[in-house]
Amino acid sequence: MSETTTAAGRRAGPRNDAAAPGPILCVVGARPNYMKMAPMLEAFRAIGEPTLLVHTGQHYDESMNDQNFRALGLPRPDVYLEVGSASHGRQTAEIMSRFEPVVEEYRPRMVVVVGDVNSTIACALVAVKMGVPVAHVEAGLRSFDRGMPEEINRVLTDQISDLLFTTEPSAAENLAREGIDASRVHFAGNVMIDSVLRNRERAVPARELIGDELAAGPYAVLTLHRPSNVDEPRILRRLLEVISEISERIPVVFPMHPRTRARIDAAGLEALVEGGRLITLPPVDYLQMIGLVRDATMVLTDSGGLQEETTAMGVPCLTIRENTERPITIDQGTNTLVGTDPAAIRAAAFQVLDSGGKAGRIPDKWDGRTAERIARIVSEWCAARPEARLS
Ligand code: UD1
Repeated sequence: MSETTTAAGRRAGPRNDAAAPGPILCVVGARPNYMKMAPMLEAFRAIGEPTLLVHTGQHYDESMNDQNFRALGLPRPDVYLEVGSASHGRQTAEIMSRFEPVVEEYRPRMVVVVGDVNSTIACALVAVKMGVPVAHVEAGLRSFDRGMPEEINRVLTDQISDLLFTTEPSAAENLAREGIDASRVHFAGNVMIDSVLRNRERAVPARELIGDELAAGPYAVLTLHRPSNVDEPRILRRLLEVISEISERIPVVFPMHPRTRARIDAAGLEALVEGGRLITLPPVDYLQMIGLVRDATMVLTDSGGLQEETTAMGVPCLTIRENTERPITIDQGTNTLVGTDPAAIRAAAFQVLDSGGKAGRIPDKWDGRTAERIARIVSEWCAARPEARLS
């Protein structure tokens, strides 16, 4: 995507003159942001609310980034910050220092951030410090595990946001406990599910990705990328061993995050994912992933978004983590929290194969109209307050 930028890392675009209300800056940075922002941009466009799409460049690989932009029909970012990978501190700082001049230049009426990645907190923090209001989409989710980088990003982003849009009732309870005034919180539903419902029918059929024979029979899908699961070789080995065992009963398709690929190579664990019925793939794009999951017998994952997408599509999901910030997927959906103990993972997977997994139901307001609700509230809120002034 770098060809869209100037040497300074930003595309030339219309400057906002001081008298006119600035556009809404919509921020994305990493793969799980894109399917949340796509329906938001569409909804703002539908009500004539001017937006600019800012991409921090936290994810930059063709496979993580460009192919998902294409799959989701996202427009080219208006501003591309090209931050790339670094330690958390450096990456967050780099995003902040590159985003600040963008806010200065465009004087937005609001900055909209989604999810819980480093780009989310970095851009929210820059905005509030410059007197620009922030809307956080997917607010209030809590794993109660401060060892997760995302948890820190969630807690801090929520504290400084003016409008907080929640996906499930647990989120409002969490926010109230943290002293956030209920008037800032809106239960709008799940914007990620807007994307699932919009794209389910146009998803790439699994057979195009994994071949007729495999797609015709039962298969499982695996994703694994959380630092707590993949960074420590001993833990990674145990997980791959049990997955390999499960694959003796059902083929397991494993699109691999670059981080996981790097950790497997560094730990010399390639043999555990080569050959047999564990089929590894490079990262797949959004439409391929939805197609793969839609037709799967079950999903094993440590992702946040997949817990919700499987619930929306009625596919049993086993979450390989000790906690989840998305409890509604367990209480109402198809998700089961199995932890990281190999015996528990094996038992849960075999149970799905022997007796079928959870059927679940669709949570309230996961109806494909969340972005529309959020856009309307943002627009009315902006109209009702005097224009934000940059400090
Ligand atoms: C980030 C998010 C995480 C989200 C995940 C989805 C944070 C704190 N974490 O984690 O919540 O679930 O994205 O993918 O923001 N890499 C590449 N190419 C890329 C991107 C990353 O090779 O395009 C490799 C690099 O080695 C990099 C590593 O992956 O150092 C980690 O990337 P980073 O964006 O820091 O975190 P993720 O693990 O992807």
